[in-house]
Amino acid sequence: MVYLNAMRHLLNIIKRYPWTSTACGVMILLFFWSFYVEPNLIEVIHCEVTPKRWQPEHDGLRMVVLSDMHLRAGWEDFFRRKRIAARVAEQKPDIIVILGDSVNGRGGIRDNISDDEMTAFLAGFKAPLGVWGIFGNHENAYGLERAEAIYKRAGVHLLERDFARIEYKGRGFWLCGLFTYRVGQGSIVPKFPPDEAVIHLLHQAVLMTDFPTWISLTVSGHSHGGQIVLPVIGTAYQPEGIRPTYPDGYSELGDWHLYLTRGLGGSPFSARFLCWPEISVLTLRADRAVVRQIDPVSGQIVAKSVREGKRI
Ligand SMILES: [Fe+2]
Repeated sequence: MVYLNAMRHLLNIIKRYPWTSTACGVMILLFFWSFYVEPNLIEVIHCEVTPKRWQPEHDGLRMVVLSDMHLRAGWEDFFRRKRIAARVAEQKPDIIVILGDSVNGRGGIRDNISDDEMTAFLAGFKAPLGVWGIFGNHENAYGLERAEAIYKRAGVHLLERDFARIEYKGRGFWLCGLFTYRVGQGSIVPKFPPDEAVIHLLHQAVLMTDFPTWISLTVSGHSHGGQIVLPVIGTAYQPEGIRPTYPDGYSELGDWHLYLTRGLGGSPFSARFLCWPEISVLTLRADRAVVRQIDPVSGQIVAKSVREGKRI
C-alpha cells in the first residue's frame, strides 16, 4: 500500500513536470550506464605495430598491454576483474606488460581491494615470456614499497629504471622502464647490440620525448582515452592536464613510435562514458605495419594505423 501511494505520487509529479522529470530520468540512466555498465564492457583491441629494429625471428610476437586498471573493492569490481582475467587468458599472449595504476591510489582499504586479492589477481596473468610491470602515479600515492611487495609476490617483474633482455627464438630484445617516482634511484644503461630492439614501458606518454631515440617503441597509458567522452564536445576529462597528449593507438611521431592505450579503469571515479575499457593486443611486426603517422610540426595525422576492436 505504501509503495502504491509512492508510485501514484511519482506519477503525479511526472505529469505536472514532464520536462524536468524526463531530464532527471536521463541523468539517472546516464549515471547507471557510466558507473555500472560501460566500465564492464571491455574492448579487446588488436593492433599491428612495427618497433624499430624488430627482428624477423620475432615477427608476430603477441604482447598484451594492461594499464590503469584502478582495481577497487566492491562487488561490481569483482566481476570486472573476472572479465579482465578471462579476456587476457583468451589472447594467449607471448608476453604481458602492466603500465601502472593497477591500484587506486589512496592506500586505504575503502577504495582498494586488499593486498592479498590484488596479489592473487595479478598472479593469475601468465605468459611464456613473463609478466612485466612499472608503476603509475597511483602506485606512488598508494605506497611504492607496498606496491613493489605485491608485484613481487604476484610474480610481476618490476622495471623501474631498469632493463631486462629477453631471449626469444635465439635472438634478444629488451624491455625497460626508465622513469621512477623514487628520486635518486639510479640505473646503468646497458650496451645494446645495435640490432636489438628496446621497448619502453612508460606510464605517462607525455614524458616520452624526454627519453633517448634509440627506444624502439614506447607503450603508455594514463590518459584513460579521455574516460568521459561527450558527443560533439569530445574528451571531457584528461589527466595529462594542460600538457598536450597523443592520440590513442599506434602512432609514429618523427623518431618516436608510440602505442597509447585507453586503459581499463577510471579515476578519480570509476565511471567511463563512450570510452570503453581497452585490453590492447599488440602484434609486433618486423615489416612495416600500416601506421598512423603524425606530422611532428603540425600535429596533423597523415596516415592511420589499422586498429580493430572486439567489444565483449
Ligand atoms: Fe590511471
